[in-house]
Amino acid sequence: MKFLVRHRVVKIEKRADDYMKYQKNGVVQKLRVIFLNVIWLSLPLQDSFAQPIENDSELLNGERQYNLFCAECHEGALLEAPQRAAFELYSPERILDALESGSMATSGMALTRQQKRDVAYYLTGEKYNETQTQVASFDCEPTISSSRSAKGVVSWNGWGGGSGNTRHLASEMILNKNNVDQLELKWAFAFPDATRARSQPVVTSDLTFVGSQEGTIYALDNSNGCPWWTFNADSEVRGSVFVDVDEHGVPARLLFGDFAGKAYAIDAQTGDLLWKTEVHQHPQATITGSVIAHNNLVIVPVSSLEVLLAARVGYSCCSFRGAVVALSISTGEILWRTYTTEEPSPTIMSTAGVQQFGPSGAPIWSSPTIDEQRNLVYVGTGENYSSPANDYSDAVLALDLADGEIVWAAQLTKDDAWNGACSRNTPNCPEEDGPDYDIGASPILTRDESGREIILAGQKSGMVYALDPSNNGALIWEQRVGSGGTMGGIHYGMSSSDKKLFVGVSDLPTNNPYNVGPAHPGIHALRLSTGEFVWRNDLPDKCEQSRFLCWQGISAAVTSTPDLVFAGGLDGILRAFDTDTGDILWETNTRQNFGIRNGIEARGGSIEADGPVIVDGRVYISSGYEKWAEAPGNVLLVYSINGE
Ligand code: HEC
Repeated sequence: MKFLVRHRVVKIEKRADDYMKYQKNGVVQKLRVIFLNVIWLSLPLQDSFAQPIENDSELLNGERQYNLFCAECHEGALLEAPQRAAFELYSPERILDALESGSMATSGMALTRQQKRDVAYYLTGEKYNETQTQVASFDCEPTISSSRSAKGVVSWNGWGGGSGNTRHLASEMILNKNNVDQLELKWAFAFPDATRARSQPVVTSDLTFVGSQEGTIYALDNSNGCPWWTFNADSEVRGSVFVDVDEHGVPARLLFGDFAGKAYAIDAQTGDLLWKTEVHQHPQATITGSVIAHNNLVIVPVSSLEVLLAARVGYSCCSFRGAVVALSISTGEILWRTYTTEEPSPTIMSTAGVQQFGPSGAPIWSSPTIDEQRNLVYVGTGENYSSPANDYSDAVLALDLADGEIVWAAQLTKDDAWNGACSRNTPNCPEEDGPDYDIGASPILTRDESGREIILAGQKSGMVYALDPSNNGALIWEQRVGSGGTMGGIHYGMSSSDKKLFVGVSDLPTNNPYNVGPAHPGIHALRLSTGEFVWRNDLPDKCEQSRFLCWQGISAAVTSTPDLVFAGGLDGILRAFDTDTGDILWETNTRQNFGIRNGIEARGGSIEADGPVIVDGRVYISSGYEKWAEAPGNVLLVYSINGE
């Protein structure tokens, strides 16, 4: 089968082998130097292809432009930016796209088209080819006949599996303690032109729906991973899709957001566009969390890239306000939009003489949670970008589904104003210079053993809070599970049965001065009703030598069934733990090469954001993440008992 994708597919194959061969100095040391703005990733690159060849003027020019306009962020100083080593795996077309219309368009403005091509050449070792055919071929056929509609129960929808975002499948008994050690790879799908895979799949009985870094949504045949249809969004789709079913329970529409801040509805049977709406007027607005639907509403969380732009000396920081936007499922019309700060107004002049604005920020980058009974939607927010900090940053907010009004706010950390300037000591860091303790994990709404309703919030600070939905979010209990950090603490999500809360902890060392106590990278179970520890499992360092960052912590969301908790590590290891004891019952290293799949070299790397999805005894996990210096990859992996 042939499908049009927007980029060609070349890079991944070439350098498959030099992936792991460089010396690892120890994660702690590396991160320390990142914060001192010392370049460490350039050292291993000295013997790589990206060296200027004396008489290659395009390469030399590319290096010059890179050093002038890009190196300040991409050599380790800005954790969020992919490191130069990761660019080797990009195609020059993708670098050009990023500079012309993607997330690097502002940086790209300073460069002529030829200079952009030269930079892309310098970074990838390959020349931009305008006439390159943009076709990816998949050497497989889907088994679903086109006359049949993709029916099927949606047993895990959206980010959290259901409206409460518990990430727990109470009905899953095919996979259990006795057979989990027989899990084997069933199929793997390699995303074309990708160096990260972070759109969590949604699985129906026929199809797996998943987004990708270059903006393609795939409907993959569940039995063999072959594409049934594809749809091209305008930019990266980071969140999971949400399937809206018709009155017969058949998938009707897929709802999702893209990195450019647009929300979409497409036909679940054909992939045809139904509507597309820009949800926020700020040029840096982005949708990185997953959307959720309820009745006739799609609820969209809005975050932004301004937090990084703020690092620039000349940037007037900041004007983005976090938002929750509700759209009509049928038309895409915006029904309400609620901001997390007031309209920013001029505040001080920075030491560089640049006007600052505030309040700002409090973005939302996790999936909202629906409380049907109270007709509320809960969201977790991040830090303010500029002074003054307000009451809605690092908070759980409860919004009325009818009109978006904020009904209550439980702020977990006060006075957290922070932006990219703070880690780089440039003038736009707000006076609070806060801990950057976002709530990036979706709030969980569930009931404990006694039937009491409870909201659970995990924070980058390493803290877990239990809040009372029947009492305006009043605190029920709190527990420190990790030391916290810029990358969590608790980063992307926890899961919860009615007895236990399973908490993945990253605790990647980041020299955040606000962190408390020893690191506990690993997974921990708390009693839901009290917050006491049931068991703790600090994971061992199994990192092999690599020039990419490797760490045993769990940053990605975790997922549970009655018997098992599944969690993928920053080290790329996917594990199943016993829910009763925390013992490891099965593990597999996804940070490896999976050979050629659908015509493309498939490789795993770090597991950073989205969590495992478990459906009918199968485990779906994506692997590979090139930001924060982590190990890139491009793969969606599906495991089943004996690979059947
Ligand atoms: C002010 C800091 C900064 C500067 C300057 C900068 N970048 Fe970036 N760049 C980033 C960050 C942060 C990201 C990650 C954005 C994200 O995906 O969240 C990024 C992402 C990228 C990506 C990946 C985009 C994608 O599609 O995933 C490319 C390619 C890139 N930068 C190239 C460049 C080049 C080439 C230059 C110089 C012309 C440059 N950048 C200048 C901070 C910067």
